[in-house]
Amino acid sequence: MRDVLRSMPGPVFLESDRLSLRTVESEDREFIRSHWNSPELRHWFAKTDPIDSERLSDFLETNDTEVHFLPCRDSVPVGFLWLFRIDDVAGRGEIGYWVSPEEQGNGYATEAAELGLRYAFNERGLHKVMARVFEGNKTSQRILEKLGFEEEGYLREHYFVDGEYVDTRFFGLLADDK
Ligand SMILES: CC(C)(COP(=O)(O)OP(=O)(O)OC[C@H]1O[C@@H](n2cnc3c(N)ncnc32)[C@H](O)[C@@H]1OP(=O)(O)O)[C@@H](O)C(=O)NCCC(=O)NCCS
Repeated sequence: MRDVLRSMPGPVFLESDRLSLRTVESEDREFIRSHWNSPELRHWFAKTDPIDSERLSDFLETNDTEVHFLPCRDSVPVGFLWLFRIDDVAGRGEIGYWVSPEEQGNGYATEAAELGLRYAFNERGLHKVMARVFEGNKTSQRILEKLGFEEEGYLREHYFVDGEYVDTRFFGLLADDK
């Protein structure tokens, strides 16, 4: 709650029935940093380095290959969503998301990802969006299936997480699949 109060998301960029995707502003960094360092969330991204202010600033730095959004209910952030490895020549990018533990189970990740995909296909003009999911992340896999992604690849022991190698599934969604 403390983090949410400190957060002050930027203007609405896209919106759906319950959520908006807003720009990430400097006041939102504490919200992102506190959640992203929590073992509960970072476990699923294999984030092994602590994300201090400097690292977060580097990560959030504007460039041509990444876009960051704060999914919000009214103006309260419920998580984080980003498109990365955007390759405008290949027309391809990857999507990532997390929802803060107290906001999970409400369909927010699915709704936020739908908005992110709308941006990727309709505004950014991408042809394909990829997602990678660790084996065992049934929740994220379910989200991708709901959104129409197809599993395209399975990489064995691809990441090292909490002392063991984990298999990883790659999913893809084409603009034409929508
Ligand atoms: C994954 C995550 C983003 C989901 O957020 P969320 O807002 O709770 O997700 P949603 O409510 O939109 O959808 C979850 C879906 O998974 C389903 N689900 C939940 N637990 C499940 C399980 N163990 N097995 C199968 N499906 C499951 C839910 O029922 C729901 O599907 P439904 O709408 O058909 O009922 C959130 O748990 C999170 O931040 N996890 C850590 C970070 C992470 O894993 N990010 C993705 C990395 S690829």
